[in-house]
Amino acid sequence: MTDSAGAVADRAAAGFTARYGGRAAGRWVAPGRVNLIGEHTDYNEGFVLPFALPLHTVVAADRQDAEQWTVWSELSDETITFGADDVAEAGRVTGWGAYVAGVVWALREAGHPVPGARMAIASDVPLGSGLSSSAALESAVLAALLDLGGLELPAELQPRLAQRAENVYVGAPTGIMDQSAVIRCRAGHALFLDCRDESVEQIPFDLDAAGLTVLVIDSRAPHRHADGEYAARRRSCEAGAAALGVAALRDVGVDQLDTALAQLDDEETRRRVRHVVTEDQRVLDTVALLRAARVRDIGPLLTASHVSMRDDFEITVPEIDTAVEAALAAGALGARMTGGGFGGCVLALVEADRADAVAAAVTAAYAERGFAAPGTVPVLPGPGATRLD
Ligand code: GLA
Repeated sequence: MTDSAGAVADRAAAGFTARYGGRAAGRWVAPGRVNLIGEHTDYNEGFVLPFALPLHTVVAADRQDAEQWTVWSELSDETITFGADDVAEAGRVTGWGAYVAGVVWALREAGHPVPGARMAIASDVPLGSGLSSSAALESAVLAALLDLGGLELPAELQPRLAQRAENVYVGAPTGIMDQSAVIRCRAGHALFLDCRDESVEQIPFDLDAAGLTVLVIDSRAPHRHADGEYAARRRSCEAGAAALGVAALRDVGVDQLDTALAQLDDEETRRRVRHVVTEDQRVLDTVALLRAARVRDIGPLLTASHVSMRDDFEITVPEIDTAVEAALAAGALGARMTGGGFGGCVLALVEADRADAVAAAVTAAYAERGFAAPGTVPVLPGPGATRLD
């Protein structure tokens, strides 16, 4: 357990005692995530390579007899209660509580008898920064409810269930990457996930040993139309796959790309397809380099991924592009936006002893452009969701 998880876990335990009296039966932690490379490939049944962050959501919980769920969150200092009626149908609980109710709903829908529970939630995963605060919340709640109910659900089946909570109960059409990362990542590794069959390989990503770090830069850019644009990208990809007569864009290899593009009439669809097909290949190339312990050499792939997201997928914003350019100018080995786009975070691969200088350069570039100051934090790959005590 990292220090940060310890502090968050203490707050969850204190919150539990203050709200409900007594001690929680246990505490469950789930991390935020960044995606090293492989953006908007998950719902195209392709490849992604995320790793877990040393930022955490902790749920302190115990059972309650009634078929009722009472949840306090430190973020809003609010307590909500919902019952069986609220999880009989998707969408009845709204706001942050929807992620919790969604997990109860998804478990029940899958035929699991979910115990009533009291929960206290604390977190240092920033909201709305594209670091998967929602998947962390879903996954920590899922782990708690499984244990409290004595339910068996193998780790490889848990991401789908948490994703259903988000897709159906909350109503966000996201892919399988975030919940997979949060649940299945391991410390010191990136998770190579094949989003078609959900098979995984833990790829050693020992930045520390290589004298490197990943600087996560929170662009602080307001998310502009992110939900609508995400859904629109997804539709374009599905239209591209249909026009090409394949089940998903994953089925188009880079060696077939020119032929495939020539079959598409619409220029925008061509660009969207080109991003996804080349991005899948960049994930495979990154994995090959990491397997050969050539960590520094992945830098150009990260930057190429950014260029593809900026020019072909068109999901970046000025704050994001500024952060990438400033990081590269200050000596980052590679930099790219991570996550769904239209705001969120940039990651830069940097020599550990250059992290401060790169962060300062990005901050200075922001000041020059009149943007609100970015957040910067160096990170190493941490463990996935687990029970703390
Ligand atoms: C968001 C979604 C993921 C994935 C990324 C883009 O984070 O939740 O499923 O599609 O965007 O790679």
